Order: sequence, then structure tokens, then C-alpha cells
Amino acid sequence: MNKKMIPSMDEWLKEAKAHESAEKIGMYLTHNGIVRKSAKAKVRFGEENTKNVTGMQFSYDQEKVDAVIHFAGLKAVGESVAKPLMYYQNNLISTLNLIELMEKYGCNNLVFSSSATVYGDPISVPIYETFDLKVTNPYGRTKLMLEDILRDYAKVNEGKNIALLRYFNPIGAHPSGLIGEDPNGIPNNLVPYITQTAIGKRKALGVFGNDYDTIDGTGVRDYVHVCDLAYGHVLALDKLFSDCGLVVYNLGTGNGYSVLQVHAAMEKACGFPIPYEIKERRPGDIATCYASCEKAYKELGFEAKYDIDAMCRDAWNWQKNNPNGFKK
Ligand code: UFG
Repeated sequence: MNKKMIPSMDEWLKEAKAHESAEKIGMYLTHNGIVRKSAKAKVRFGEENTKNVTGMQFSYDQEKVDAVIHFAGLKAVGESVAKPLMYYQNNLISTLNLIELMEKYGCNNLVFSSSATVYGDPISVPIYETFDLKVTNPYGRTKLMLEDILRDYAKVNEGKNIALLRYFNPIGAHPSGLIGEDPNGIPNNLVPYITQTAIGKRKALGVFGNDYDTIDGTGVRDYVHVCDLAYGHVLALDKLFSDCGLVVYNLGTGNGYSVLQVHAAMEKACGFPIPYEIKERRPGDIATCYASCEKAYKELGFEAKYDIDAMCRDAWNWQKNNPNGFKK
């Protein structure tokens, strides 16, 4: 990532707005490359496995890299319980490789995708960055271990700037309908499960528990539009270039919605009823989780712009246009 590529908030929003209605498209990243729709953006794409240091070394040789945004990682809680070694291998080793390469090439700036999972079951909500960190599954443990590794690293290496971004529940899709969520197999997460039910791939949404101490008994989460989340990364990059050292931010909206509220918002977006049935609680789930985003607002100027209706509109638009995901 190069400093010159950072757009202002206004440019970013103008671009996102344009995509809602028009063909004015610069460039999209798909899960496996770049789809170029016009000559507006020139970004070189190289596909390397972060566990393959030699390949990554080759990529770095091509140009000067000012900063790295590290999103790659396995992220399914249930799978991590079943296959812990795979999670430790993949998430830890690849990140260590990346940091060593950045060291070798003199790159001091890193944005790291962390997760609200590092708070475990919080003592209260909203959740502040200062809350105790505790995890309950191997996936969460990889995120916390990596945060700890990065804290240790920054402590003894002056000049390293690292932003740990703790994502709450990212949902939605790019407003163009060209980039969206395409889970492998049966979706673990709420929103892709609802949209796949709406498109007819699943029979009914299973609502995991309706006896929590929440507004309607179903679990409450802080859903954030992926475009807001993406812009949070742009702001974090700006922060890194001010030589901030290691910083930590929650990225959410600060609002909680229950499963049934999200389901209702999706029905509104689709314009038809979506079947659901109440099931047992899912092991490991907590009742309520939402962020305080005060710190990200004060220090980065981060403020989520998309509400739950826009998140559902864009998630449904993606699903409707791509019933089989990226596979045509
Ligand atoms: N839910 C259902 N039915 C489903 C799927 C989910 O009722 O089919 C409910 C869950 O019980 C929960 C809510 O919808 O109450 C959200 O569940 P998700 O699986 O979408 O998200 P989680 O909050 O469980 O987990 C997400 C990410 C994790 C991350 C965590 C951070 O998937 O990777 O947020 O808090 F660690």
C-alpha cells in the first residue's frame, strides 16, 4: 500500500455513492484478483500465499511498500475448535512470516485485522478498548496471540506503527453488487444464512436461542457495513503515517441489533417474508456484544455511515445478483 493511494473521506463516500446507482466503476478486488471495469485505478495484483515466504519476497522486490494491511486468516469459530492446529499454523505462521518480511524490507507500518472476539464475554456493554482480553476458542486465541506478539514487537522496536483493528460484525456488500460474501459450504454467520434462505438455497433460518436477556430474547450484535469497515482501514493508515506507534481501535457502529431485528430488516430489503425457526442456543454464544466507537471517532474520525437497512439492502443486492456467489 502506497501513501499516495489514500483517498479523503469525501472522495471515498462520493465513490461509494456513485456505485449505488451507476456504472462508474474504477476497480474491484474479488476473492481471487482484480476485476477492472475502467482504467481509473492502477493497482498491481500479485497472488502469494503468506505461508510461502519466497513468493512474498518476490512481490516485495517489485516496488517500495509503505504499509501493509493484513486481512488474511481463517475465521470460523466452530472449525477452529475442531481443527486447532490448522488455525495456529495458518494464522500465526503466516503473520510471523509477514512481519519478518516487512522487517527485511524496512516497512514499518501495519494494519492488522483483529476481532471483538478478543473480549470474550464482556462484563458490560458498550465494550471499550480498555476492557480485559480473554478468549474462548482457538480462532479467538490466534487473534489475541497475534495482538500480543505485535505488542511485544512494537515495544522493543522503535518506529514501528501498528493498528490493531477489532472488528465487530461486518456484514453487507459493496453497493455495486460486484463484491460480496461467498462463504464455503453452509454459512456460519447470520447474514449470509438469511440471504441464502431468501434466495432459496436454505429452507429456513435457524435462530439460535430466544431466551437471552435482550430486547426480544435473541442475540444482539454490532453489525457494521463492510464499506464503513474498509474506510476505517484507510483512516488507520493515515494514523500510521503520523508515527503513532501501536494503537488499538474498535470498529463497529456502537448500536446493537437482535437476530430478529436483522431478520426483519432483511425482509424489508427483499420485499418478501423469509422463513425462520427458533432453535437451541449455539454453544459459546453470548447475549449481547456492541462496541464503544468513541476512541475511533476521536482519534481517527471514524463514524459508520451505513445503517442496518443499507447493510441488508447491499447484502441482498449481492445475493440476488450472485445466487451462486463468485461461481457463475
Ligand atoms: N445466529 C443465528 N443463526 C445463524 C447464525 C447466527 O441465530 O444461523 C445468531 C448468533 O447466535 C448470534 C448472531 O446471530 O446471536 C450473530 O452470529 P454470527 O455467527 O453472525 O456472528 P458472531 O457474533 O457469533 O461472530 C462474529 C464473527 C466472529 C467474531 C465475532 C466477534 O463471526 O469471527 O463476531 O464478536 F469473532
